[in-house]
Amino acid sequence: MNHKNFKNECQSEIEIQSGDREFASLSQNWITKAQSLKYSYHFEWLGRPIIQYPQDILAMQELIWSIQPDLIIETGIAHGGSLIFSASILELNAICGGCQDAEVLGIDIDIREHNRKAIESHPLFKRISMIQGSSIAPEIIEQVKAKAAGKQRILVCLDSNHTHEHVLAELEAYAPLTSIGSYCVVFDTVVEDLPDEMFGDRPWGVGNNPKTAVREYLKNHSEFELDKAIQNKLLITVAPDGYLKRIN
Ligand SMILES: C[S@@+](CC[C@H](N)C(=O)[O-])C[C@H]1O[C@@H](n2cnc3c(N)ncnc32)[C@H](O)[C@@H]1O
Repeated sequence: MNHKNFKNECQSEIEIQSGDREFASLSQNWITKAQSLKYSYHFEWLGRPIIQYPQDILAMQELIWSIQPDLIIETGIAHGGSLIFSASILELNAICGGCQDAEVLGIDIDIREHNRKAIESHPLFKRISMIQGSSIAPEIIEQVKAKAAGKQRILVCLDSNHTHEHVLAELEAYAPLTSIGSYCVVFDTVVEDLPDEMFGDRPWGVGNNPKTAVREYLKNHSEFELDKAIQNKLLITVAPDGYLKRIN
């Protein structure tokens, strides 16, 4: 079977999968259990801890390959795993004939010294730059916009402070930088679907999280649509209703 027919067959299977209520319920139960065990903290990408589910990492690889971004903007660096991941796929894109000088920009309010050193000494650091500061501070937003100027295909990933107010402010600042056909990926929308008591003393929880921010943002931004096909494929994702495609 050729690739096109294979993809069509997969699409039909994913549609059937997305209507399977038992599978949806099993997946949600799995996510709830995984969250209680801090499952998403236990992976590394090329030597750096990456706080993501493997399923979302694979989805991001598919996006980075198909979009071929020349800039990826990420809020929330932590140990640097997602930055190294993005840099590694951009490197592979380049090896395969894509953009040669594609880069990833990370923003974090607190880049710990040991993390900074490890990221800066990584072989893929050549594709990475970092800004320390709050992602919603006007002077940080200006620096990001300056970096984005002149870029052709920008992909945005939001994964910092998960309160409604903060994510909405990040969406207002950074989603407009997303190129048409590319994505603004909002992580941890899953908070809305988990028991509120799981978040203890965190400032976010049910009713106040990235998913509620996405809902509010989309009310006034018809240039974005939710790409449900990605979450229907993954089922296990921290970003349900978080893969926003820029359509115009
Ligand atoms: C979930 S971690 C990021 C994980 C990372 N993207 C990964 O996949 O490995 C969240 C990060 O957001 C950062 N953060 C919290 N508030 C922030 C803010 N106002 N601006 C920028 N970064 C912030 C924290 O310091 C933390 O490192």
